[in-house]
Amino acid sequence: VTALAEKLHDLTRDASADEIDNYKLLLCIAAGGLAPEGHPPVDGPEAAAFRTVVDCLGRIHPTGLLYRGRPDFMTDELLARLQAESDEVRKVAVRSDLYFLGCGGPTADALAVSGELRALVDQLAEGMEPTGIASYLFYDEPGCGLSPHVDTDVFTLNAILMLRHEHASESPSHLVLYSPEGEEERLLLEPGEIALLFAGGTVHAREPVKEDERIALLTLGFEPVAAAAA
Ligand SMILES: [Fe+2]
Repeated sequence: VTALAEKLHDLTRDASADEIDNYKLLLCIAAGGLAPEGHPPVDGPEAAAFRTVVDCLGRIHPTGLLYRGRPDFMTDELLARLQAESDEVRKVAVRSDLYFLGCGGPTADALAVSGELRALVDQLAEGMEPTGIASYLFYDEPGCGLSPHVDTDVFTLNAILMLRHEHASESPSHLVLYSPEGEEERLLLEPGEIALLFAGGTVHAREPVKEDERIALLTLGFEPVAAAAA
């Protein structure tokens, strides 16, 4: 979209994997700095810079939201088991930046490589394999949230499952996706709903939670087959 993004991306043509990681980190820090709390600048050079950053990040990996909904396999029973597991994991979750992070448990780990989830992904994206990595994320203290960023390679495609969202606010925290054209898409997921997102290339953020707002999510990673085999 921007000529500058094209020029910057050209510089990565001969870059090593480490250099690409370095470049992504620089861009993510720029995205977060330009859009504190997920609010990008609306005009001026800062707005142009944010669009350039989003555009550059979207040239490294595929982008887009592939699916949002509650698939048949997400039964009330499975959701309840995942919620219960997340409650246990929350007790040992560690603070990472502005959220709390915990590893999956047996139920989450099984879902990460399940045939049902694979079938859903296969319908929507070619050549993606589960990484087997499942992480519980908690945004449950005032101010918890995540600036615009892209995910690491093991979440090139990320299935983000909402487990709980308690809030009393009229404007609860949304998941926000940014397109290189400058459009924002705000998603308010219901418990049991999954957003399947090319999270390695699509800049996205979690709006800060308010007082008395609590979110528990499970994220399940997929990556290209060639990377999974390497
Ligand atoms: Fe993310």
